[in-house]
Amino acid sequence: MPVEFTRVEEFALITLNRPEALNALSVQVVKDIGAAIDAAAGSDARALLVTGAGDKAFCAGADISEFMGRNIVEAMAATELGQKTFAKLDSLTIPSVAVINGYALGGGLELATACTLRVATANARLGVPEIKLGLIPGYGGTQRLPRLVGQGRALDMVMTGRMVAAEEALSMGLINRLVETPAVAGAIAYAREFAAFSLPVLRYGREAVMRADNTALAEGLSIERDLNTLAFQGEDATEGANAFLEKRAPEFKDR
Ligand code: CAA
Repeated sequence: MPVEFTRVEEFALITLNRPEALNALSVQVVKDIGAAIDAAAGSDARALLVTGAGDKAFCAGADISEFMGRNIVEAMAATELGQKTFAKLDSLTIPSVAVINGYALGGGLELATACTLRVATANARLGVPEIKLGLIPGYGGTQRLPRLVGQGRALDMVMTGRMVAAEEALSMGLINRLVETPAVAGAIAYAREFAAFSLPVLRYGREAVMRADNTALAEGLSIERDLNTLAFQGEDATEGANAFLEKRAPEFKDR
């Protein structure tokens, strides 16, 4: 199967499984990723991890062998499919973590930046090299990269197509953590830093931060006020305060 959907402890795991093509995103692979994200949404997993098979690549981008002979309608449909598929991660009720274990290029980096968080091993190389193909990123890269790393750095990456090493990616905020190999084990340890918290409250926090990208400050503060008030209505907020006052660990119930 070019895309595997499995369970690893309390987490859902999507593995892009075309190591012979550096896990490149054929149209079928993108469709399969969409189905796997839907499966994660319907599961009781605490978070979704996304990685690539093998030790060389997370994903080397869209499958270039499918580019030739596409007409304008087909080219637009492929781009829309990629954008819509990766956007499913924005509305997924559980957080997602890209586990970057090698190259994350083009559509591969776009998949990673659509995830809530990113970890990477020291051999990771991240970039949007589309300019070298006479193209620009098409699966969300021109929009999500500047939101993550700022316009200047995004323009540098989009215009030069250069690869960023893991350390630099960490320093620019493109990844959240460096992890040892095996990368999935490192990602699980990272995900456990948040996965026992209340899932609905994690979602409010994600939503408030994501909305900051495209709202004026006053509107963003209103969104924060409303989501904070909503969180206060939950049993988990009562449990959190009680546990603090009783000097014990909280037991959140996702309510
Ligand atoms: N599409 C299809 N096949 C790919 C691929 C891709 N994006 N990337 C790598 N492969 C294939 C290679 O063709 C090769 O196959 P064969 O063994 O059959 O020849 C195999 O994977 C191994 O790759 P290399 O031999 O090239 O490995 P390398 O170590 O020499 O180089 C690399 C690694 C630098 C990542 C190089 O493979 C490369 O530059 N790949 C293309 C990266 C790229 O341009 N990505 C952007 C694609 S466009 C896009 O993603 C648009 C968008 O916004 C969605």
